[in-house]
Amino acid sequence: MSRYRVATIPGDGIGVDVTAEAIRVLDAALPGIEWTEFDWSCENYLRTGAMMPADGPDRLTEFDAILLGAVGFPGVPDHISLWGLLIPLRRAFGQYVNLRPVRLLPGTESALRDRTAADLDILIVRENSEGEYSEIGGTHNPGRPDEFVLQESVFTRVGCERIIRYAFERAAQRGGRLCSATKSNGLIHSMPYWDSVFERIATEYPGVETRQMHVDALAAEIVLHPDRLDVIVGSNLFGDILSDLAAAVTGGLGMAPSGNINPSGDAPSMFEAVHGSAPDIAGQGIANPVAQILAAAMMLEQLGEHDAAAAIDRAVCDVLDKGDIRTADLGGTATTTDLGTAIAQRVAELVVHG
Ligand code: NAD
Ligand code: IPM
Ligand code: MN
Repeated sequence: MSRYRVATIPGDGIGVDVTAEAIRVLDAALPGIEWTEFDWSCENYLRTGAMMPADGPDRLTEFDAILLGAVGFPGVPDHISLWGLLIPLRRAFGQYVNLRPVRLLPGTESALRDRTAADLDILIVRENSEGEYSEIGGTHNPGRPDEFVLQESVFTRVGCERIIRYAFERAAQRGGRLCSATKSNGLIHSMPYWDSVFERIATEYPGVETRQMHVDALAAEIVLHPDRLDVIVGSNLFGDILSDLAAAVTGGLGMAPSGNINPSGDAPSMFEAVHGSAPDIAGQGIANPVAQILAAAMMLEQLGEHDAAAAIDRAVCDVLDKGDIRTADLGGTATTTDLGTAIAQRVAELVVHG
């Protein structure tokens, strides 16, 4: 039996549906996880005036991990909902790494149709606590002809060094290749600084082959030559944009998981899909739960439950490879629950039979 206590925040839109399926699969993989659900969401905001209570982070610290659905829904401006819940939690818990593996899974078709799983296996290491996502700035001279808005970026030495070093470590454990996303041709202060940190830390890892690419060219590289990429490290905004792009080339946003990792382990890490609440398909029961289920597997990996994590991964691959149960984004007619249940059943078989 599990000894873990996990907090869930299903949130908004399809976050609620896919989190239910991730819990179903986790219960099959590792029975006995103690779940505590928090109803923090845009609905909660409209009811109480806050996305989460002021002591929200304090209430979560005691958990071993957090499983988050998605945050944001029409009716509450996105900068209110996300800065009221997701972004403060990432920062409160020192989750400075946002890990986003992107793989072409068996039985699924890439938008790049001649690519196979061997060509498309990338780990995006996204800075998750500073960079372009900053509260520094404001609107000046509002309503006047000389009105202007400032939005500052923050690149600290500690923040850049720790994420770049983390990415080098991961690259050393994987294929030994690391590509840094820059844009030093357009951003004349932040990106040359980022590049200088990257170059300095590279000297500590002579075994890792490095590249630095402008983020626009790197976006094209993901589409044209994904096989040349292994680990990518990027700032908060670049990592965000590249991860949706990379998910799309594997067949869609429903496939890509994400872990907000606190590498020191002194606070819970938080697992979610790369995608959002998908208001366009919310309430229809047709969202693809695979991304959230793979995020659940990342959670088990982080907790040290490698066998249970591997069982989930294998079950997802087996069900997709068999191909008879697919959600609409994968060309099928199955519901979110149909696919979640099929994966949970396969996990149960794997756990029993080893
Ligand atoms: P989105 O990821 O929610 O949706 C983009 C497109 O992908 C939509 O067409 C959607 O239907 C499709 N899609 C996403 N997930 C899918 C799935 N599992 N199965 C099938 N199709 C899927 O992005 P958006 O529309 O830009 O954002 C919607 C809301 O979610 C906004 O409020 C945004 O701020 C928020 N958001 C939250 C998170 C998060 O909580 N981590 C992440 C991204 C966006
Ligand atoms: C993500 C999301 C968030 C981000 C938004 C909703 C603030 O897009 O997790 O990818 O940019 O971090
Ligand atoms: Mn995003």
